[in-house]
Amino acid sequence: MSKDAKHKHTDVGTAFGIDIGGSGIKGAPVDLGSGEFVRDRVRIPTPQPATPEAVARTVAEVVDSFDLDKDVPIGVTFPAVILHGVAQSAANVDDAWIGTDVAATVGAATGRRVLAVNDADAAGYAEVVYGAARDVPGVVLVVTLGTGIGSALVVDGVLVPNTELGHLEIDGHDAESRASDAARDREDLSFAQWAQRLQRYFSVVENLFWPDLIVVGGGVSKKHEQFLPLLDLRTRIVPAQLRNAAGIVGAARLAATGGRV
Ligand code: BGC
Repeated sequence: MSKDAKHKHTDVGTAFGIDIGGSGIKGAPVDLGSGEFVRDRVRIPTPQPATPEAVARTVAEVVDSFDLDKDVPIGVTFPAVILHGVAQSAANVDDAWIGTDVAATVGAATGRRVLAVNDADAAGYAEVVYGAARDVPGVVLVVTLGTGIGSALVVDGVLVPNTELGHLEIDGHDAESRASDAARDREDLSFAQWAQRLQRYFSVVENLFWPDLIVVGGGVSKKHEQFLPLLDLRTRIVPAQLRNAAGIVGAARLAATGGRV
């Protein structure tokens, strides 16, 4: 093996991850060996309206609050389908984003090269490399329960991007409109009531994908004891480990490696 090949995809070094969410834009430098933040993250509220230009300016502010090398890899998460940097959907964000090249817009505002990735893909990838699905071979499905439902499908360490399993149509409904954490909140469901919806959702998902492991992320996963034990599934289902760092960590990792483990 040549010296170059040997060092190409090792874990050494730092990359910068940014999580663009509906209420906050958060960023931190990440140690790619451990998957931990090198410094405390910075959070700035998401500007309203959250137009591409306003959001890109805020991302630049987050980046500028750190003293970063010019060539540090930068990854940003975005809650939409991202194809080659371009947002294709806007389920829970301003419609102005559809067709926007997220990577190029943020790249121009920061004066840096940026990789853009779907939020659940970033979080899921981080769980596979550093968290709950570390060293799990085969098919891992990470599902994030939040405002929407996000999904990441990782097969033997390779991410299959933009799976969008929150938008499966189940019993005539867009799945996330019934089973997301926002639906629980909106309809004031108890955890037991919500678990029935999750039971239906995950049963459909496991029958379609037959994963080896399901990891449940999103803010509510810290309350996993209140709903995961109520689920009766064939597939092993566990809570995420990286909590709200997952998006930042996954985006940084993907920016540095292009998705190769
Ligand atoms: C979007 C996905 C996103 C998920 C979580 C869904 O509504 O379509 O792209 O990953 O919400 O934010």
